Amino acid sequence: MSKQTNIDWSKLGFSYMKTDFRYISRWKDGKWDDGKLVEDNRLSISEASTALHYGQQCFEGLKAYRTKENKIQLFRPDENASRLKNSCKRVLMPEVPVEKFIDACKQVVKANEHFVPPYGSGATLYLRPFVIGVGDNLGVKPAPEYIFCVFCVPVGPYFKGGMAPVNFTIADYDRAAPYGTGAAKVGGNYAGSLLPHEEAVKKGFADAIYLDPKTHTKIEEVGAANFFGITNDDKFITPNSPSILPSITKYSLMHIAKEYLEMEVIERDVFIDKLDEFKEAGACGTAAVITPIGGIEYKGDLHVFHSETEVGPVTKKLYDTLYGIQFGDVEAPEGWIVEVE
Ligand code: PLP
Ligand code: COI
Repeated sequence: MSKQTNIDWSKLGFSYMKTDFRYISRWKDGKWDDGKLVEDNRLSISEASTALHYGQQCFEGLKAYRTKENKIQLFRPDENASRLKNSCKRVLMPEVPVEKFIDACKQVVKANEHFVPPYGSGATLYLRPFVIGVGDNLGVKPAPEYIFCVFCVPVGPYFKGGMAPVNFTIADYDRAAPYGTGAAKVGGNYAGSLLPHEEAVKKGFADAIYLDPKTHTKIEEVGAANFFGITNDDKFITPNSPSILPSITKYSLMHIAKEYLEMEVIERDVFIDKLDEFKEAGACGTAAVITPIGGIEYKGDLHVFHSETEVGPVTKKLYDTLYGIQFGDVEAPEGWIVEVE
């Protein structure tokens, strides 16, 4: 490590800290410029930018991990790149090519190498790529110009306690509409989740679980993470719906469950009144990694899965394998790991 920081890695939560460099590329007249690293963490944009008024923007989240051998690696950045493309398409923004996305992430990690937490600390460097519509515009239409930016922040656990069970409650609101933007990672989905999140936290829960917007009978998302359940006969089950954000962690766990743990894996409806079929449940995502679900409160009753205090054995195995792959201790499937050299 060239430069030093005096961060207490073990105390990191999921909060912003200014790191040294971020990548910025601008789109104008039909093309992206080459992009560059800058030190200023502020953006100067038109007051009439579509990102500010009409939510024309989207973002991603991925992490850089330091291995035992002191290498730095990204986990499936090509998947984040293609999801960003899909989100851009959904809100009529120019797509960022996969190679440009990965190159930007690598540049940011390399320039902020000293912020990548040490192996064994459990902390990681979170990357936040985003695209925003900018430039002078008034009517509801796509922006004349765009900015693609990637910044990074060293982070610890997203939910307090990390790999410790937490309880969730069912939201009184929807985060997505049946043919809406639920499957795109656009800011509007998160604006709509602020109130349900706050209400859940006030009631003593970690976050809110969203049911399907059409029938309100099936689990869709666990706050900003996907849901999985382990049935009493050891099957890995995860909801299937067009309004869920397709979680890269979820698809990775599906592969791990099938190929590493030899479990049956099924994407299908998960009914809120049939939680008895699961002996364990969890929330999964880049920020959340795997957060075991202790219990779910629905209509005044708390349904407890394995335990409110202990992690279930299958969830633990899934976590250890995923974590092992991400930090380079378990052999990864081909193409999952991209080294930052
Ligand atoms: N669902 C929502 C709403 C999210 O914001 C996230 C985070 O990105 C996820 C699920 C998990 O997705 P991933 O595993 O790709 O991080
Ligand atoms: C992520 O897991 O990367 C997320 O985007 C979750 C949240 C911080 C928005």
